[in-house]
Amino acid sequence: MVMSNQKEKDENSKRRTLVGIAWNCAAELKLLLSALLFLCTLATLLQFLPSRFFISPSDIRRCLTTPTTASLPPPSQQMSTDEMSDDGVLKRAFNPYGSAAYNFIFMSAYRGGADTFAVIGLSSKPLHIYGKPSYECQWVPRHNSTANATVTTIGQKILPDWGYGRVYTVVVVNCTFRSPAGADGKGGKLILHADSDIIVALDETAEEFTDFTAQVESVPAYDYVYCGSPLYGKLSPARVREWVAYHVRLLGKKSHFVMHDAGGVHEGVREVLRPWMEKGFVSLQDVREQESFDGYYHNQFLIVNDCLHRYRFRAKWIFFFDVDEFIFVPKKSTINSLMNSLSGFTQFTIEQMPMSSTLCHEQDGPLPLAFRKWGFEKLVYRDVKRGVRRDRKYAVQPRNVFATGVHMSQNTLGRTTYKTEGRIRYFHYHGTIANRREPCNQFLNQSQITLDGIPYVMDTTMREVAAAVKRFELKTIGPVLQRTRQ
Ligand SMILES: *[C@@H]1O[C@H](CO)[C@@H](O)[C@H](O)[C@H]1NC(C)=O
Ligand SMILES: *[C@@H]1O[C@H](CO)[C@@H](O)[C@H](O)[C@H]1NC(C)=O
Ligand SMILES: *[C@@H]1O[C@H](CO)[C@@H](O)[C@H](O)[C@H]1NC(C)=O
Ligand SMILES: *[C@@H]1O[C@H](CO)[C@@H](O)[C@H](O)[C@H]1NC(C)=O
Repeated sequence: MVMSNQKEKDENSKRRTLVGIAWNCAAELKLLLSALLFLCTLATLLQFLPSRFFISPSDIRRCLTTPTTASLPPPSQQMSTDEMSDDGVLKRAFNPYGSAAYNFIFMSAYRGGADTFAVIGLSSKPLHIYGKPSYECQWVPRHNSTANATVTTIGQKILPDWGYGRVYTVVVVNCTFRSPAGADGKGGKLILHADSDIIVALDETAEEFTDFTAQVESVPAYDYVYCGSPLYGKLSPARVREWVAYHVRLLGKKSHFVMHDAGGVHEGVREVLRPWMEKGFVSLQDVREQESFDGYYHNQFLIVNDCLHRYRFRAKWIFFFDVDEFIFVPKKSTINSLMNSLSGFTQFTIEQMPMSSTLCHEQDGPLPLAFRKWGFEKLVYRDVKRGVRRDRKYAVQPRNVFATGVHMSQNTLGRTTYKTEGRIRYFHYHGTIANRREPCNQFLNQSQITLDGIPYVMDTTMREVAAAVKRFELKTIGPVLQRTRQ
């Protein structure tokens, strides 16, 4: 492909420049450059460590890449010029600068069975629209034997982001081999060939394989895992605190919440997550580095697909929704009885109850009084115009899901149901999570009202659980968050 040939050439010329400098310069510089090269190599290798290790290779890489690139002179490009050929044809020159988008930005790879893997990353969107890039997967066993040789297969690419991508689109490459790969349990490497780029996607050790097998064979550690969207902006610690307490209580002891910090988890938010992290309910991942790659909403599709595959065998169900949304199960059932009744489905969707982010009831006002109430306690006006059907959220049984979206997953095995009306829904407080001010700006005394053409009705469903959630928080983590600010 034209693009990648050019990239290759650029890379070669970069390499040549580097070698040239090393030869011409003083010994100190040579040493420095070699040291930098070594560090870069190390950093590159580090990123292939399985991501379940908790040292973050990205941190190391970030601190390395900046000085490295800064200390190198820009590659001296040999500008080509137009040339007249012997037969009188003017051969025009085209000189490329910079690079528009990478061929592949590798994020993670996970084993999904004896013969199958998922590789998750970003890729140039124009490349996928106008070119037809293909992927090849290779399994190289750590120990050669005639019986267990290297196997290759065509990678099935899934583009889960519905064309929402921008410069980059999300790619999940499903590598399914015709025979088991590494099923001898001795370890090996999964290599992804993306055009001419060779990516060591997974370097599996014998222990990792054993862990995987144990996970697959046992009952999932968690009943419910929440895979959160990238958190971005000036988030309100108060709202996050309320959200976490509410959902830990709802989803119970065997639940786990995976938060992704795309720049929104400032110190105040970290403080409200900390007690829950210490109790093992919440884990926090720093995904700020993806901001360098322009995708849809802080690479939301990338993050949720990584989370899906990361927790695929550790969760009975995975939920996908946002931190300004509150799942609600009416009293006639519990979350467990509801989920059991849906166990015949791979996926179900959850309908929305859109709530006003500013209208409160007079009984909660005026202002100094309102401060003490929680967001979902005092925002009691529901928008009845927007309807419930739009903007669904969903949950899946992840073992039957190969890639996932934001409003639902389309790469699944088994059935999906949309008929959950009246059994589970979510209250959506759009616009409250990134607001650091008191949300109430009007106190009303009506049970129905139309403001700016939007009809609202008073809906106190969520207010009624507030007291129990507050008690639950106090009982579970003590009073540490009592003084949380807006
Ligand atoms: C890849 O896709 C196949 C079905 O086409 C599925 O059985 C397999 O589990 C998938 N692998 C992963 C890792 O998702
Ligand atoms: C494994 O096999 C490959 C090719 O089949 C060969 O290049 C390599 O040297 C072998 N490695 C070992 C450790 O035998
Ligand atoms: C690889 O070796 C294991 C045990 O040594 C064996 O069970 C398995 O069938 C072999 N796989 C292939 C593809 O030959
Ligand atoms: C609010 O409504 C109640 C009952 O309709 C009434 O008693 C009360 O005076 C009203 N308050 C205001 C401030 O209008």
